[in-house]
Amino acid sequence: KKVVLAYSGGLDTSVILRWLQEQYDCEVVTFTADIGQGEELAPARAKAEAAGVKEIYIDDLREEFVRDFVFPMFRANAIYEGEYLLGTSIARPLIAKRLVEIAIETGADAISHGATGKGNDQVRFELGAYALKPDIQIVAPWREWDLLSREKLLAYAEAHGIPVEMKREGTKSPYSMDANLLHISYEGYDLEDPWCEPGADMWRWSVAPEDAPDRPTYIELTFAQGDCVAIDGQSMSPAALLAELNRIGGANGIGRADIVENRYVGMKSRGCYETPGGTLLLKAHRAMESLTLDREAAHQKDALMPRYAELVYNGYWFSPERQMLQAAIDQTQAVVNGVVRLKLYKGNVLVVGRKSESDSLFDASIATFEEDAGAYDQGDATGFIRLNALRLRVAGNRRPYRRG
Ligand code: ARG
Ligand code: SIN
Repeated sequence: KKVVLAYSGGLDTSVILRWLQEQYDCEVVTFTADIGQGEELAPARAKAEAAGVKEIYIDDLREEFVRDFVFPMFRANAIYEGEYLLGTSIARPLIAKRLVEIAIETGADAISHGATGKGNDQVRFELGAYALKPDIQIVAPWREWDLLSREKLLAYAEAHGIPVEMKREGTKSPYSMDANLLHISYEGYDLEDPWCEPGADMWRWSVAPEDAPDRPTYIELTFAQGDCVAIDGQSMSPAALLAELNRIGGANGIGRADIVENRYVGMKSRGCYETPGGTLLLKAHRAMESLTLDREAAHQKDALMPRYAELVYNGYWFSPERQMLQAAIDQTQAVVNGVVRLKLYKGNVLVVGRKSESDSLFDASIATFEEDAGAYDQGDATGFIRLNALRLRVAGNRRPYRRG
């Protein structure tokens, strides 16, 4: 029996690695991905080797992550429950995909992950894996073992010679964190009181808005078919572009969120997020669409968006319904081309300009308050309003309109 484990090299997954070897008497293959979490990957290799792992996968998935997951999601303007930009949610299907690919390559029958039994991540990993390899077996140690407290986990680590100092070396934080190129998240500890404001030192990617520069920063984002391809005229790969937007946004105190969200498994949970680049992308993308999309196509997209966001949040990336929505969304993006100018100032993102040589639907000669060229006859509005008012007048005659 062989299991592919999503392995970070941290304490939890190091304990899982040992537990799998012991409990299941199986050979473990480790898989560690660089999705821009900003942690050294080399230690993961050394630790896996020390644990006797023979097949060690360490993959740089940053470009694939942004190109094939983050960008398609941003074409939808996806936001979960009005606030969450889905930074963790969108990374899980990619991890699931690689776990399955590696299982096939190494002839493993199972995969394993370190997500708890109380969260969304287990659902995302496993729905993804089942969609891609229906006969895959899944081992979720957190749902099986009795190491349910920190003390028990530490005791197990000590008893098995797993260095306890592995716990996020040099980055000591009491929070449960998850980071990738799109965001960093914080959960647990004092955030478990929804009334408690997190300390200033919790945030790692952005300055506080009040500490951001007193002068605004202007940037211009170029879009091609709905994807951002350049900053200030400079073309960049998807991953490089998002990293740069994170830097610029973070320096201006942009992209913090503090929310209580509904997990798919039924509980409410409080989390804090920093998504500086994503916040800029979303605002700019909407501005680009405002100029180039037909009204009804845009409104239809907006109507589909909450459903799309829910599918991503709940772990249905590899589902026919997500693909179906994606096809509809992507179809609209052929015209989303041009440049958006943003002004960033102390946590705020202001759209101050937008243009599209090829696809702008904005026609100043129609919209003007001055005399126009004749495409619009103000007299037509009389009949337009009269017909739309007909049913209101009929109803109003029956029964006068009352509030409430
Ligand atoms: N609550 C967020 C979500 O469900 C973030 C989860 C963070 N995951 C983690 N393993 N710390 O997407
Ligand atoms: C976890 O439980 O592993 C993290 C939180 C989540 O998945 O929602």
